Amino acid sequence: MTAEKKPRRSAKWFDNPEDPGMTALYLERYLNYGITRAELQSGKPIIGIAQTGSDLSPCNRVHLELAKRVREGIRDAGGICFEFPVHPIQETGRRPTAALDRNLAYLGLVEILHGYPLDGVVLTTGCDKTTPALLMAAATVDLPAIVLSAGPMLDGWHDGKLAGSGTIIWEQRLKLATGEIDYTEFMDAAAASAPSVGYCNTMGTASTMNSLAEALGMSLPGNASIPAPYRERGQMAYATGVRIVAMVDEDLRPSKILTRAAIENAIMVNSAIGGSTNAQPHITAIARHVGVEIAPMDWQTVGYDVPLIVDMQPAGRYLSEAFHRAGGVPVVMKELLANDRLNGEALTVTGRSAAENIAFAAAPDGDVIRPYAAPLKERAGFIVLKGNLFDAAIMKTSVISEAFFSRYLDRPGERWVLEGRAVVFEGSEDYHHRIEDPALGIDEDTILVIRNAGPVGWPGSAEVVNMQPPAALIKRGITALPCIGDGRQSGTSGSASILNASPEAAVGGGLGLLVTGDRIRIDLNTGTADALVSAEEWAARKAAFQPNYPASQTPWQEIHRATVGQLAEGGCMELAVKYRAVGDVLARNNH
Ligand code: FES
Ligand code: MG
Repeated sequence: MTAEKKPRRSAKWFDNPEDPGMTALYLERYLNYGITRAELQSGKPIIGIAQTGSDLSPCNRVHLELAKRVREGIRDAGGICFEFPVHPIQETGRRPTAALDRNLAYLGLVEILHGYPLDGVVLTTGCDKTTPALLMAAATVDLPAIVLSAGPMLDGWHDGKLAGSGTIIWEQRLKLATGEIDYTEFMDAAAASAPSVGYCNTMGTASTMNSLAEALGMSLPGNASIPAPYRERGQMAYATGVRIVAMVDEDLRPSKILTRAAIENAIMVNSAIGGSTNAQPHITAIARHVGVEIAPMDWQTVGYDVPLIVDMQPAGRYLSEAFHRAGGVPVVMKELLANDRLNGEALTVTGRSAAENIAFAAAPDGDVIRPYAAPLKERAGFIVLKGNLFDAAIMKTSVISEAFFSRYLDRPGERWVLEGRAVVFEGSEDYHHRIEDPALGIDEDTILVIRNAGPVGWPGSAEVVNMQPPAALIKRGITALPCIGDGRQSGTSGSASILNASPEAAVGGGLGLLVTGDRIRIDLNTGTADALVSAEEWAARKAAFQPNYPASQTPWQEIHRATVGQLAEGGCMELAVKYRAVGDVLARNNH
């Protein structure tokens, strides 16, 4: 006698002999485009494709095409495919910030996976927040799930040099400010950085989060780096479709993969690739939704000592095609594993461990991917700071440029100390309006501060902390000043800002108490960040504090503000974090 097979989750909708009335109701409309009752009652798993591509989401638009190969993989492996749309998220086109959409898409996908007859799901990831939104939902629902990345764009070229997404805009903006280039030249350079379908070709937040999805064990090995137009991308789509069907039969769920070991792997890989500061809230959010608690300081404890071994913009020189040719994430992970900086036992979507998956990987080429023993930078992770200005903020050390920080880091007796006079902006409109005002007295001694840019204040938290100095300073060769803020910055920015400050000014954090002219002292040796203001004065300002941020413009902005936590805790909808494995909790019938 063979053991009776557990009925599929989808059969509770489509094939419940005890309740023919409801079965008929659930079935009939799905037949109307030609699929048969026999197929839907065959016992084959029903696999969702969570489709993030659309005209509004060009970074993920190639998924409309890739989904055809995913479907073929699902069919060939014995599954049935239901493709459905996810709320669009586009990083650069969305006002006031795509960060508002991460939790919205998360919420929408949780409802879809909970309420419809699906046994497993392919998560189509790409643009920055699509990857965490989908992984957060998979973590909450805990049905078998696998990531398929859209893949990065081809390398961009401008004036005979590599033109990387985002990074070229930060660079050319400096030239525009000094009149070295004009408007048309600026726009041409920006367009040159986007030569094909796919997501940002720098190690910005998109490539970071897709690399980390692979490091987490949530995609097939090698998935993250394949450029969107390459034939291997379609082949990866097919293999992903094949694999999800087996995952359903193996009941291989996110909760088995997204363990503490996997989360630590993501943090270590993030340092090695020079990954985005946005990885901090996103990975923290994924961890919390699956029930793994990670503290803000874990980013430093687990990740700071890991060296930068990938030479990709903005921390280095190359773009995604070079990274892919050098072997991508498996090569990085294998090098980390060989140096005891990876939890090799972590289970992955292949049903095998991380170590088994990467056994095939090549050695570093020594150029695009460096050996662990000869890195681009020794300790390349985030430093976590705290003090009277905030309880937690991070600084990405892989982009610290010696030229810039030598002004601060190498002062005799004061190594790794930044001290200066604060000039405070209330948001990016205020910054753009006043940055050129000579009355602000901005000079080499200035620290630029921006507030009301966090999850509540903006709302959503905006990428505005990397602030450019006034043109007069740039003309004198000072192209960067230290920046501090309760917002975020683009993963494509090479600015060593102190950001993601939590709690933010809008909810009473210390940045809200600062006034222009205060002196700030950041000591990277001790991890402290303080306004040099007396305790009495600070307490008086706190007592008089009034939040100062713009009104909500849409219903979701108001709901977001009422439910969101701080960036150091992932910027999650706090009430959502307690829900676990909601895919196992059958919703009541609808009639
Ligand atoms: Fe979408 Fe960078 S803007 S990936
Ligand atoms: Mg971004």
